[in-house]
Amino acid sequence: MRSPQGQGRDIFATGIGAFTATVGSAIGLGNIWKFPYLTGSNGGAAFVLAYLACVALVGLPIMVAEHAIGRRTRLNAVQAYGSIIPGKRAWSVIGWAGLLSAVLIMAFYTDVAGWVFAYVPKSIAAFARGSVLGPADFGALAGGTWEPILWQAGVIALTAAIVAAGVSKGIERVTKVLMPLLFVLLVVCDVRALTLPGAGAGVAYLFTPDLTKLTGPVLLSALGLAFFKLSLGMGTMTTYGSYLPAATRIAPNAARVALADTAVSILAGLAIFPTVFAFGGAPAGGPGLLFNTIPLVFSKMPLGGLFTALFFVLTAVATIGAMVSLMEVPVAWLSEKAKMSRPRAGALTGAAMLALGLLATLSQGPVLGGVKILGKNFFDLFDYASSNLLLPLGGIAIAIVAGWLLARKDFVGELDKGYRGPRAFNAALAGIVKFLAPVLIAVILLNSLGILRLA
Ligand code: PFF
Repeated sequence: MRSPQGQGRDIFATGIGAFTATVGSAIGLGNIWKFPYLTGSNGGAAFVLAYLACVALVGLPIMVAEHAIGRRTRLNAVQAYGSIIPGKRAWSVIGWAGLLSAVLIMAFYTDVAGWVFAYVPKSIAAFARGSVLGPADFGALAGGTWEPILWQAGVIALTAAIVAAGVSKGIERVTKVLMPLLFVLLVVCDVRALTLPGAGAGVAYLFTPDLTKLTGPVLLSALGLAFFKLSLGMGTMTTYGSYLPAATRIAPNAARVALADTAVSILAGLAIFPTVFAFGGAPAGGPGLLFNTIPLVFSKMPLGGLFTALFFVLTAVATIGAMVSLMEVPVAWLSEKAKMSRPRAGALTGAAMLALGLLATLSQGPVLGGVKILGKNFFDLFDYASSNLLLPLGGIAIAIVAGWLLARKDFVGELDKGYRGPRAFNAALAGIVKFLAPVLIAVILLNSLGILRLA
């Protein structure tokens, strides 16, 4: 831990620590659970293509903008946006909306994380019984009442405890060690899945696009997923930017994060879809897709139940990195602005997340399953409102701040720190932040809402 400029504020101790912690925020359930589930529900390869385009043309530039704003201000998101443009405090609204997004995302994210944690003992028990977990087991867990709530509460308490321990100590230590292991295990899954008879149909599903599937709502889902997966549009990456060492080259660091994140998603897809097709299942399996597929992949391997448990252990670790970063948004603000101790801030944030989280969790079962708002249950509503509305809108606002309001020499100057490549590169990137990224987001949003008709 090191304090920059004697302000008593943590920064990541090393450049590698900055990279792994940022990757730790990006990689999580978004890759392993949400990417395959949305790809399956939105028709496969065309969605993947749209998603990749959104990462390159919107996600990466917005990540660069967030990191630059965070490092320039060395403040939490609310204060960073409130102070970066002198006399324009109203932009702190980006930080406020980010606090709301963080709580909304955590509400359903911790429900799914609870399923992941629960699947560790469940896979071991199934292995001991000589059976394989199936859709009925998943349905009983997700549609239950007390069981998912207890797992969810445990997950939130664990995250709050890590966040309370402080940035460099808490975050770096957890994320640095176990991510590479997850990567290796995903490769093992892929090899098994790809050698199943009939696997080819799954690969084709993932990589042979049918462009007629690209409707307005599909494009918005792809864009929302890019924001969600890279933890953008809500101040998380701004907060992480504020912990970046002065020597970190912002654009290459962000590009590596986006590449690693995309690679993990594709690896997850390559484990899931070949298996789904080999076993004759439906790719549009919804939120249960991961939980119903992974036990099948391993069921065809010796000691499969134990590998299934290991898979969910490592997924749980990836999930913790992401949840820590989500909780860090409100906690950094509460502790720096309201001068609350980190443990108290963590407890308060955790309580708010649990309150909304109960609604999301209970909406999957009999208790609140019948309650629909705008045709969606609480789980889907929180997901849609955050990923498909708040984050893209936050992205537009961030692009306006970095591209239009911040002096160009200040923005590009931040990107140039430590950078020794061609000068034109960072200038071009700033141009994308200014023009292309916000326009693309606006077009996709308006098109999906039916205000602009593209097709
Ligand atoms: N990027 C995380 C994932 O893909 O699982 C989720 C996430 C973390 C979203 C942090 C937003 C955030 F601020």
